[in-house]
Amino acid sequence: MTATTTHLWLREETKEHEHRVVLTPDACKKLLAERRTNADGHEEAVFRITVERSTQRIFDIHEYELAGCTIAAGGAWRDAPADAFILGLKELPENDTTPLKHRHVYFGHAYKNQAGWKDLLARFKRGGGQLLDLEFLNDEKGRRVAAFGYMAGFAGAAVGLDLWAHNQTNPGTPYPSIKPYENDEQLVSHLKKRIAQAVAGGANQPKAIVIGALGRCGTGACDLLVRAGIADANIIRWDMAETKNGGPFPQLLEYEILVNCIYLATPIPPFLTAETLLTPKSDKRHLSVVVDVSCDVTNPHNPLPFYSETTTFDAPVLAVAADRTSTPLDVVAIDHLPTLLPAESSTRFAQDLYATILQLAEVDTARVWTDVRKLFDTKSEGL
Ligand SMILES: NC(=O)c1ccc[n+]([C@@H]2O[C@H](COP(=O)([O-])OP(=O)(O)OC[C@H]3O[C@@H](n4cnc5c(N)ncnc54)[C@H](O)[C@@H]3O)[C@@H](O)[C@H]2O)c1
Repeated sequence: MTATTTHLWLREETKEHEHRVVLTPDACKKLLAERRTNADGHEEAVFRITVERSTQRIFDIHEYELAGCTIAAGGAWRDAPADAFILGLKELPENDTTPLKHRHVYFGHAYKNQAGWKDLLARFKRGGGQLLDLEFLNDEKGRRVAAFGYMAGFAGAAVGLDLWAHNQTNPGTPYPSIKPYENDEQLVSHLKKRIAQAVAGGANQPKAIVIGALGRCGTGACDLLVRAGIADANIIRWDMAETKNGGPFPQLLEYEILVNCIYLATPIPPFLTAETLLTPKSDKRHLSVVVDVSCDVTNPHNPLPFYSETTTFDAPVLAVAADRTSTPLDVVAIDHLPTLLPAESSTRFAQDLYATILQLAEVDTARVWTDVRKLFDTKSEGL
């Protein structure tokens, strides 16, 4: 039997402010160069790739064209050949109920009873398509093959440092909205300038504590602090060992910046509560910036239960009325932090995903894909 080329179709993202992409031009170029010998003994391309135009994607459409991709209009995936895999990151356009006939690879947010999950899966069932969810692509050890955690921690720590510097140099003025950076160099040099200004104005370099420091987000947060020039002695790294006795931890008030990066898998006592912020020790509170990368605000075991709303790039900061001191206590809880650096976030994600995308050519037998296929079947059963 003659093997057929696998058709990947990169759709445009329609979610507001989403500049990231699941396949970079570099990844496309590499995929298009993949060759295999078919049953007739001839060499053939493993993939062909169609890329939709997009007004918000961080990479220009010409880069995809140069990589050898075919270009299509935004939203043209609806009429893509039936065997094409439709690749994206975030939600499909809202207010659409048409049946979905393709196999879609993206973050469907449909398997943890999220709003609208039944309607989405029912659309797949009606159209005969499948959701092959990016969030559930796991390796043999059950670890996600690709995730945005590193860049989330990196971006979260960056916003924390920038906010701290802002509060030193412009006390009492609101922290402005955040715009994405073209690359991490630009972000790091901006932060170095901001910290230098704060220090020139009389502030000491801040001490920052990262909880969950050994994980993906935590590693990214610590790396950013190092690159921004924070002295190693001023970066405090906590993980399971340091929190094993259970919170609250009033000693957290001694650090200027707290970055929470834990993966909350089981109930734990809180790290810091509204009451902790009122203890005598809090009179000497240094803590003025909390970045909650984990953003477990709706979880009953949220380890930072003194605030209850997430924040956004447009309004990044929530002021917490805290205690007797005049030091502000600002919380940043943005649940889409990697968007701060769309190019690096996309590049890292596409690199981590590469080997798994290669296996799409054997989608019916490759374990990583049959697992998500089974998950789809189970979750959509009976709809
Ligand atoms: N805000 C965003 O934009 C964004 C983006 C990606 C991920 N996240 C979230 O960040 C969280 C972490 O993700 P990750 O990929 O880094 O997870 P991970 O599993 O790679 O790392 C989590 C780390 O937390 C540590 N940890 C768990 N419980 C702890 C505790 N009680 N005390 C101290 N350390 C503890 C673990 O040992 C591990 O080192 C997740 O909740 C994820 O959903 C947020």
